Amino acid sequence: DQYRTEVEQWKPTSMQEVEAFRLRFLVAKGLIKNLFEEFKTVSVEEKRMLGKVLNEFKQFTESRFATMKEKFSAAQPTVKRAVEDLTLPGPGFNAGAHHPLSIVRKEIVEIFKKLGFIVAEGPEIEDDWHNFTALNFPEEHPARDMQDTFFIRKGAGNDIALRTHTSSVQVRMMEQGKPPFRAIMPGRVYRNEAISARAHCFFHQVEGLYIDEGVSFADLKQTLYHFVQELYGAGTQVRFRPSYFPFTEPSAEMDISCTICKGAGCNMCKYTGWVEILGCGMVDPNVLENSGIDAKKYTGFAFGMGIERITNLKYEIKDLRLFSENDIRFLQQFETEV
Ligand code: PHE
Repeated sequence: DQYRTEVEQWKPTSMQEVEAFRLRFLVAKGLIKNLFEEFKTVSVEEKRMLGKVLNEFKQFTESRFATMKEKFSAAQPTVKRAVEDLTLPGPGFNAGAHHPLSIVRKEIVEIFKKLGFIVAEGPEIEDDWHNFTALNFPEEHPARDMQDTFFIRKGAGNDIALRTHTSSVQVRMMEQGKPPFRAIMPGRVYRNEAISARAHCFFHQVEGLYIDEGVSFADLKQTLYHFVQELYGAGTQVRFRPSYFPFTEPSAEMDISCTICKGAGCNMCKYTGWVEILGCGMVDPNVLENSGIDAKKYTGFAFGMGIERITNLKYEIKDLRLFSENDIRFLQQFETEV
């Protein structure tokens, strides 16, 4: 009777407790086997009486065990746990990672924010005026050619295209506001190029614009120098090479000392020790006037960089196509980044 009460009161809450039940009562050295051993030693009269009780007890225990086992088999445990404590958090799942281009864009934005630059955005589908004409592109400039630009609608004096750079946002900003302007424009741009490790039909830019009274080329150099120290670490060298853009005069391209080989020579910098990261210059007075800014009163600088290039140098990524293929093996490597 005492054992029967024990069996009845065995209310398991897990598969382990069901197993404990089995070990206590049903295995070769368990309680029931022992009782049967003891049974052999009692007198004939007692055997008659006890035999029935013991067999009943054995059957009862076995059927209890079968019921318990069924209850805890298969999917039961999770259901049971949820019922026990509804306030427990659900099972964890993989939250994914930020895309490397997003990580680097954010870093760039943070650096310029500290210098007082705001973030401006504009449309990816742009008209000829904002993408080219206002930016002082001559009528026959090759960038307007079908080879570089994805046109959506041609003709009627104002072609519609996918923007080829985010300089278009600078024009929109100047048209809509009053100086001073201090802003950066991150965004996706499109160019009609064959897709390879080094070129893609779309990429991402961050352009910057600073217009005020008395802004000089020295301001441009110091701003970009500071940016590079923040992004790639103190001691990164910069150099400016004269260049040409229709919308800036004078114009330059800025190189930095190769972040990968530190100037020792590698594939990334083609053994020169330098890599180009951006174009820049003083905003051409024509562009200011086209956008309704008094070019006699205001001057300013602009710059533009490709986020892909900046990211490649930070993470030693050698193939542009990785950014848009969404290969999980690539993306997972950035899980620990901010
Ligand atoms: N818009 C240029 C490009 O797409 C970059 C640039 C921006 C150069 C501003 C100078 C000044 O290549």
